Amino acid sequence: MLNAEAIFRQMPTLETRRLLLRPLCLEDAKDMYDYACDPLVSRYVPWETHRSIEDSYAYLNSAVEDQQAGKPCSWAVVSKAENRMVGTAGYVWWQPEHSKAEIGYVLARRLWGQGLTSEAVKTIIDFGFTRMELNRIEARCIEENIASAKVMEKCGMTREGRMRDYLKIKGTFCTYLFYSILRREWEEML
Ligand SMILES: CC(C)(COP(=O)(O)OP(=O)(O)OC[C@H]1O[C@@H](n2cnc3c(N)ncnc32)[C@H](O)[C@@H]1OP(=O)(O)O)[C@@H](O)C(=O)NCCC(=O)NCCS
Repeated sequence: MLNAEAIFRQMPTLETRRLLLRPLCLEDAKDMYDYACDPLVSRYVPWETHRSIEDSYAYLNSAVEDQQAGKPCSWAVVSKAENRMVGTAGYVWWQPEHSKAEIGYVLARRLWGQGLTSEAVKTIIDFGFTRMELNRIEARCIEENIASAKVMEKCGMTREGRMRDYLKIKGTFCTYLFYSILRREWEEML
């Protein structure tokens, strides 16, 4: 029987070629603020641009509380080359009773376009199917967020839908694209 809470309470560190994915901690506030204060980074996400390091502390406090409560939460994405935290990626939502969960991700702007997020998300998808016993992994993005849609496609996800004016983000109704990958599709890719 899957012990859902234990998975995030004892969140393991994952390793990819260029990244470490480790649990978030309060000491990440400075590195988080460095990228989350950039309005281009927060342009297509529901959260507001961080105005001070206090916003980053508040985000991290809530992430650490989620970890301790065994709720799904993101990993800190650490660049091995820079030896610092450069983003987050992980599960933002999980329904164990339906064996499905949703992924989200953010990366510092200076590192965009090098395939780093796709590298992290592939590993997080592997984790979901092997450790969380998922059958379906979902992700979504605002239609204009081409980089995010490409991450999902490069990770083997299929576009399943387009919802018009789905959420009001920063005062504007945004159309969302919905993607998913099923366990049987992931197994075919192995
Ligand atoms: C979305 C995000 C995480 C992608 O990170 P990344 O590390 O740059 O992603 P990758 O390099 O793995 O893949 C991005 C792909 O999109 C492509 N791309 C980016 N902008 C593009 C554009 N305007 N038109 C066409 N392709 C574009 C890149 O070339 C790359 O594809 P390639 O590997 O085939 O060249 C990053 O842009 C980000 O942090 N954005 C702000 C936060 C955000 O929007 N998060 C997602 C919320 S749904």
